[in-house]
Amino acid sequence: MQLPILLDRESRIPLQRQLFDSIRRMVLTRGLRPGDRLPASRGLAKALDVSRVTVSLAYDQLTAEGYLHARRGSGTFVSTQIPDALAEAHGRSLPRAAQARVRVSKYADRLQAEPAVGHVPSGAIDLSCFAPDFDRFPMAEWRRTLSRRLRSSGRLLFQYAGDAYGYEPLRQAIATYVAKSRAIHCTAAQVLIVSGSQQALDLCARVLIDEEDSVSIEKPGYPGTHGVFRAHGARVHTVPVDRDGIVVRRLKPGARVIYTTPSHQFPTGASMSIARRMQLIDWARQHGSMLIEDDYDSEYRYHGAPLPALYGLAADVPVVYIGTFSKVMYPGIRLGYLIATNSLAHRFAAAKWMMDRHSSLLEQMALADFIKEGHLERHVRRMRRLYHQRRMALVSALDQHFGEAAEILGDQAGMHILVRFRNLEGEPDPARDGVRLTSASKYYVSDAPANEYVMGFTAVTERALREGVARLCRAWSHPRAKGSLGGGQFYGEITLPHK
Ligand SMILES: Cc1ncc(COP(=O)(O)O)c(C=O)c1O
Repeated sequence: MQLPILLDRESRIPLQRQLFDSIRRMVLTRGLRPGDRLPASRGLAKALDVSRVTVSLAYDQLTAEGYLHARRGSGTFVSTQIPDALAEAHGRSLPRAAQARVRVSKYADRLQAEPAVGHVPSGAIDLSCFAPDFDRFPMAEWRRTLSRRLRSSGRLLFQYAGDAYGYEPLRQAIATYVAKSRAIHCTAAQVLIVSGSQQALDLCARVLIDEEDSVSIEKPGYPGTHGVFRAHGARVHTVPVDRDGIVVRRLKPGARVIYTTPSHQFPTGASMSIARRMQLIDWARQHGSMLIEDDYDSEYRYHGAPLPALYGLAADVPVVYIGTFSKVMYPGIRLGYLIATNSLAHRFAAAKWMMDRHSSLLEQMALADFIKEGHLERHVRRMRRLYHQRRMALVSALDQHFGEAAEILGDQAGMHILVRFRNLEGEPDPARDGVRLTSASKYYVSDAPANEYVMGFTAVTERALREGVARLCRAWSHPRAKGSLGGGQFYGEITLPHK
């Protein structure tokens, strides 16, 4: 490792002292991190054109003061026990210019910090997680597919792809898939590979709206969408959701873009009825609005045939369709897709090219093979069966322990349900109660009800789901409730029953 050290040979400060100060500063400002290995004294002396003794003496002094420690036979390392107080004191003594608040863009100011993901103590059951079950991922096939691509693709892998659209065979595979499963008829030229739905949403904000434009989103809804449009300076309106999806008559004229999750509304799980879909398309046509259809988990549907996508139903209203591989593969793959009309797809591709050129080629190529060879379809089929069992285990445990005190929504599809508990409030403490539950309140921009929880069932075994619900019941020590549930007309406007 080369250290960025400049020695001033004109200075009256001895070289050994200058070296000591430079390395000390790097340790305190974390340019060198605890455990980092320092260059050997001979190498550093040569690089800085000083004697080896100068370096050895500086290292010795840093070691004596606790900044470094030497391990016999393996070298000199940054100490793992630099007192924080020392680093903080150093921060306070930094020149003012370095500490002055930097003026950032309005965009940066409007970004909101993601809420920290709570720690799950060991032994606690996490009922809030709705990630795929990574242990069931067909790792052997995926590893083989990736290695084959690594071996066979040669220089193609190392170069920029010629355009931002993504790997053509993958786009072709997606066009074929959505035609079959979502009644979307498009060509590969209309499919843009993106780094997850989140990037698709960001591209929508860049391509479709200007500051102060009005955007309608669902309430409760996906915070990733709200965050993107807010950061880009849109005026974001929230629209309530009922059992049929977004409530069209509550939309405000002037919305340039309407964002919706019709297959499995996030987080209520409502599946938008055909009548509501047609009503939404009519409204968008009359008011000159565009639709963004986020189809994030439609592959997991447990009852009945999937309803056709808005994209396929809306002949004369522009719809941008977004899909992701985060749920059927894993979120770390950062691959998703956006489907739009030819001319819009071209605009999106231009924005993607400006943003990051294109998504990583190796994963795109391997994914195209994975789909072509039927691995993905087999995996989804297997997971659908597994998740279906788990979903039933969760629903029946809730029913057994809470009866009508737990109203379950959105259990026909997806990877989570929304549970509205009656007369029960306050999150259990995972350390004390052995179960973690997180409130759905973060999905409401305002006026969140206190008793709604998103519960995931895909990454937890049936046994753990049952045990988790039993622990929940003990935590709330609530006997099976009797009587019917209250509740408002809209999920966004629920009236809470009180204890
Ligand atoms: C509504 C919605 N859209 C999209 C995603 C997935 O985002 P990404 O594809 O960026 O991982 C999620 C993830 O939970 C989601 O809930």
